[in-house]
Amino acid sequence: MKIRTVFVCQNCGSHSPKWMGRCPSCGEWNTLVEEVEEEVPVEFSFPPSDPILYKDIKEAKRERIKISIEELNPVFGGGIVLGSLVLIGGEPGIGKSTLLLQMSRDFADSGEKVLYVSGEESLEQIKIRGDRLGLRNGNLYLLAETNLERIIAHAEKINPQVFVLDSVQAVFSSKLSSSPGTISQVREVANRVFRFAKNNQSSSFLIGHITKEGSLAGPKSLEHMVDVVLYFEGERDHSHRVLRVLKNRFGPVSELALFEMGSRGLQAIANPSAFFLKERPTDEAGSVAVCTIKGSRPLMAEIQALVSSTLFSGNPRRMTIGLDHFRAAMLLAIVEKKVGFSFAGEDIYINVAGGLNIDEPASDLGVIAAVISCMKNKAIPPEVTVFGEVGLSGEIRSVSQPLARVKEASSLGFRTVIMPQGNISQLEKKDVPKIELLGAKNIKQALGIIL
Ligand SMILES: Nc1ncnc2c1ncn2[C@@H]1O[C@H](COP(=O)(O)OP(=O)(O)OP(=O)(O)O)[C@@H](O)[C@H]1O
Ligand SMILES: [Mg+2]
Ligand SMILES: [Zn+2]
Repeated sequence: MKIRTVFVCQNCGSHSPKWMGRCPSCGEWNTLVEEVEEEVPVEFSFPPSDPILYKDIKEAKRERIKISIEELNPVFGGGIVLGSLVLIGGEPGIGKSTLLLQMSRDFADSGEKVLYVSGEESLEQIKIRGDRLGLRNGNLYLLAETNLERIIAHAEKINPQVFVLDSVQAVFSSKLSSSPGTISQVREVANRVFRFAKNNQSSSFLIGHITKEGSLAGPKSLEHMVDVVLYFEGERDHSHRVLRVLKNRFGPVSELALFEMGSRGLQAIANPSAFFLKERPTDEAGSVAVCTIKGSRPLMAEIQALVSSTLFSGNPRRMTIGLDHFRAAMLLAIVEKKVGFSFAGEDIYINVAGGLNIDEPASDLGVIAAVISCMKNKAIPPEVTVFGEVGLSGEIRSVSQPLARVKEASSLGFRTVIMPQGNISQLEKKDVPKIELLGAKNIKQALGIIL
């Protein structure tokens, strides 16, 4: 029998009869991998379906398992729905196994039966981590195995309430001949675990490795199959980690949780704003506190700017860390045009302290304030904070959730907020905490107040 092979894009899953440097359907380079073409046998494990009148459908009662790491429950929309399938993606070494082993520990401690399957580490390696995390002899089963069929057989026998598979790329189905981690294997694994989760009402977790570019290699194509997609992010040189919701069939998608990685595992950061501001210089030019929204929560962050005369005349540097590069360039252009500064001879570096990423327009005014503060070598008073989107005409536009931002600033001891004039009129006097609110209509006016 002749084995037919096809080339499958590992980014988007599209097929091609011959190799190409660039995937014609998603445009990624070097993503085509030769895989054996095979028919995946379809299994009918669901009961036969029948159309039902809408009015006769009973309201499904969503039972949720509560997580004892308090901060995680909102991420899952109020606990983990029974029988749901969750995909947790993150870069190598970010702490995915740690998080799930910690969650497994808590579930086991509260009486749930848990099966944690690792296709990447030996039981001994997991035990070293487990001892560090304070695992007790709860109702937690560990299995080191890479064969999908064997894993599912064990899972069906144990019938756990919580099932964890670490990772989707390490496990393979013997029904397919392509190697582990290829898109067909990854899909088959997810498919099989999905059916297991639904049939056994086991809340299941898949760990997926993501590539540097930020897409779940292969797992990107799983996002539509699973109920919840979470991303675990952080900077290698910083201890904090952010768990972000990308998709949730049972809850909101704007939630996130912040953790700090330590020797005893991940610990929720109780006051994230204080955490990100704690090393802020108080009397230095080029630094400003901004009120941003991360997920659905307000978060104070520090924007720093450094302006220094360039050695590359005609082509000065523009660097941003934790902010959108193009947006920052646009803001600089607006300031040049509307306020009359010239940055032609200056290298400009803009950084969000603590390795935080703040990608919302409400931080525009903060970027401008930090740059001008450094340019003029004049410090912004430490008890002043700013927020506001800046438009191309230099106007300051209203942003979402002004009250949440103002309240957060007030609770951290800030005394003055410089913000969009349009937002000020939205705030009801009675709700607003004791803090001075100064509205600005354009950047010229705002800079006049700030500096
Ligand atoms: N003794 C320790 N003290 C503090 N932090 C530790 C310790 N040991 C490991 N870590 C942290 O745990 C991280 C690795 O966590 P973990 O193995 O859960 O990550 P992962 O995302 O599962 O990685 P992988 O891609 O290898 O599967 C390390 O990068 C390190 O930051
Ligand atoms: Mg791991
Ligand atoms: Zn593609």
